[in-house]
Amino acid sequence: MLKTAFGEMTSPNITPDPGTGIGGWSRDAFARAVREGIAPDGSNLYPTMSFTSYAKMSDADIDALYAYIMSLSPVRAEFEPAALDFPWNQRILLNGWRKLFFDNAEFEPDPGRSDAVNRGAYLVEGPAHCGECHSPRNALGGFEPGKALTGAAIEGYWAPNLTPDPSTGLGSWSEEDLYAYLSGRDTPHGGAFGPMHDVVAEGTSHLDDPDLRAMAAYLHQLAPQRNPDGRALEHAEATASVAIATVHRFCRGGAFRCRRGRAATAARILRQGGVRCRPRPELSRRLRGSWPCPRSARSGRTARGWRSASAAGSGSAPSGRS
Ligand code: HEC
Repeated sequence: MLKTAFGEMTSPNITPDPGTGIGGWSRDAFARAVREGIAPDGSNLYPTMSFTSYAKMSDADIDALYAYIMSLSPVRAEFEPAALDFPWNQRILLNGWRKLFFDNAEFEPDPGRSDAVNRGAYLVEGPAHCGECHSPRNALGGFEPGKALTGAAIEGYWAPNLTPDPSTGLGSWSEEDLYAYLSGRDTPHGGAFGPMHDVVAEGTSHLDDPDLRAMAAYLHQLAPQRNPDGRALEHAEATASVAIATVHRFCRGGAFRCRRGRAATAARILRQGGVRCRPRPELSRRLRGSWPCPRSARSGRTARGWRSASAAGSGSAPSGRS
């Protein structure tokens, strides 16, 4: 089940079961669905299925994906169709959407960039579909031109600006940090949370080293772009609740045994959430009660500092910015 701005969507069965899955699909029907968003019966798929990124996937990768999926054990499972709100439940509207927002151009390597950067660009923009969460969209769900990877709200989280902008992006991240983060290791900036935890745990941490390095190299050389939206109140509330989950998940039973990277992550999320946010009263009480570490790795503020900042009613985050 996926919550989108247009209603809830369910993901269908993609095991090779002939009746309820995609067992009856040819390689070409599969390629058309994945890269063009068109089902074998000719109907449009919603762009929740990331064909807007997969359009860039090479034939060889589509072949490999098809072979892999067809090698899975078929599972019989009926598919409950999408329950989108009107008018979004009218698939025919997607014809217009596609004309406006779907660019089905293949991936073109840039001869001015190294092979590694081109490989990273292919992975990030195509199969790894990073922009599906990190690129801002307009009110109709189309990507805003010229703002790729500059950050967006997704499922109640803020998927941060991945360009190296010093104040709103990853300006303080080295290429090595990006590589470590995507491979699933802790970094000075913390580990991945929420939807990004799944991306790393089930996705990028399984990539081989050259591919991880290529993605890091590509992200690191992007042109910095500012995007202050991540500090908006609604995201702040979401990220504050993520921080609580973090704290509960990684610091068991009041023993306050935080791993440094985890503490850094919680501190970062709190900082991000606290910039313009006065936590709701119940939120700040829970934060006060559960902030686990004597000293948060990055902010340098003590738990007591956070307590007194909140108690004083400033609502500021541990970094002291308000
Ligand atoms: C399903 C949505 C989703 C996808 C797909 C996704 N991300 Fe993320 N990403 C997020 C969210 C949400 C966060 C914030 C998580 C957190 O604060 O720990 C995040 C955080 C990050 C961060 C940390 C940034 C920071 O300031 O802490 C990096 C780096 C990152 N993502 C890179 C990528 C790359 C590279 C890809 C493609 C391989 C990708 N993401 C795909 C949702 C996504």
